[in-house]
Amino acid sequence: MSSFDNTLFIKACRCQETERTPVWFMRQAGRYMKEYHEVRAKASFTEICKTPELACEVTLQPIKRFGYDASIIFSDILFPCEAMGLPLEFYDGRGPVFSKRVETPADVTAMSPAPASDLDFVYRAISMTRKALDEFGTPLIGFAGAPFTLVSYMIEGGTSKQFAKLKSFMYNHPDSFKELMDKMTTTVTAYLIEQVNAGVQALQLFDSWAGTLSIEDYEEFALPWVKRIIADLDKTGVPRIYFMLNHGAYLDQIATCGADVIGVDWRTSLTTAREVFPEGTAVMGNLEPLVLYGPRENAIKRTQMILDEWGSKPGHVFNLGHGILPETPNDNVDAVLQVIQRKAASNG
Ligand code: CP3
Repeated sequence: MSSFDNTLFIKACRCQETERTPVWFMRQAGRYMKEYHEVRAKASFTEICKTPELACEVTLQPIKRFGYDASIIFSDILFPCEAMGLPLEFYDGRGPVFSKRVETPADVTAMSPAPASDLDFVYRAISMTRKALDEFGTPLIGFAGAPFTLVSYMIEGGTSKQFAKLKSFMYNHPDSFKELMDKMTTTVTAYLIEQVNAGVQALQLFDSWAGTLSIEDYEEFALPWVKRIIADLDKTGVPRIYFMLNHGAYLDQIATCGADVIGVDWRTSLTTAREVFPEGTAVMGNLEPLVLYGPRENAIKRTQMILDEWGSKPGHVFNLGHGILPETPNDNVDAVLQVIQRKAASNG
């Protein structure tokens, strides 16, 4: 039992009745906020993530400014890859780059799972943030990348469109690929358990790139490791969220993942998700993030359509279908949150 069991967010994750739908946005701390830019002017993205005081400050910014119903610790999915031996840099406009990558089966053999203690800066940020959030009563979400997505970065050395290096490694050396998935899974599981020990109330696995696989390959090269992590996290007692981008073709497979909450993007309707996922699974989603770039009335209308589509049944967590984008007008975020949180409009 935790003191967050009665929050809207945790109750919705557990498919319990709530007086309204809880809402948070993926990437809710970041470049669409002027407060974030002010911190970023003084520190790099990596410095923010690795300095608990700064990570805590940035994590709280969207809670103070917008009042989301859940908070997510400010960090990145790629730090466990760095802990496994690949030096990581984030470049403005180019995203993450590893100066060394996994190229051969020998590289995989030489690699070991990272001890959870290598990511101590994350746990320190979490415990500091947990304390700072207490005045708002907001639950804190911890996260990691799912193994396939992390391994894709380790083999590609950065972001990719075709994933040619990744898939060529996967098809030419399937056993070695799976050995790397095993090592990553050990790393990620220990890392998430430590995040719970440090104070998070829920865990999310981000599988951003698994949507590039054929269905058979998703079943062979990605899903089994997701299932293993989710099963191993059962003992933590916190809700486990699985989010995969571009997952529409794999709904039957994802339905077996074992997560308490499954995130859906805007390509899948909430009605379909509810039909396909097992009874008792909560659904998170699914406003298209770019709707927030358009007219306010349309953003409000689409938000209301999502709420109406789900209806009054418990088990819906409102979110975007993917991360909020850097140019998002803050007023549109306010307007959408007002609809979901049923707040009175501030200017009448
Ligand atoms: O949701 C949150 O507010 C928590 C913070 C968070 C970040 N990254 C901060 C970030 C989370 C949960 C992530 C996850 C993440 N990181 C994913 C999975 C989710 C997804 O979007 O599919 C992936 C694929 C990454 C890897 C990554 N990190 C990329 C590709 C980039 C560069 C692209 C970009 O948007 O600039 C990052 C950098 C990054 N991670 C930023 C933020 C706020 C931008 C940092 C900056 O320049 O200030």
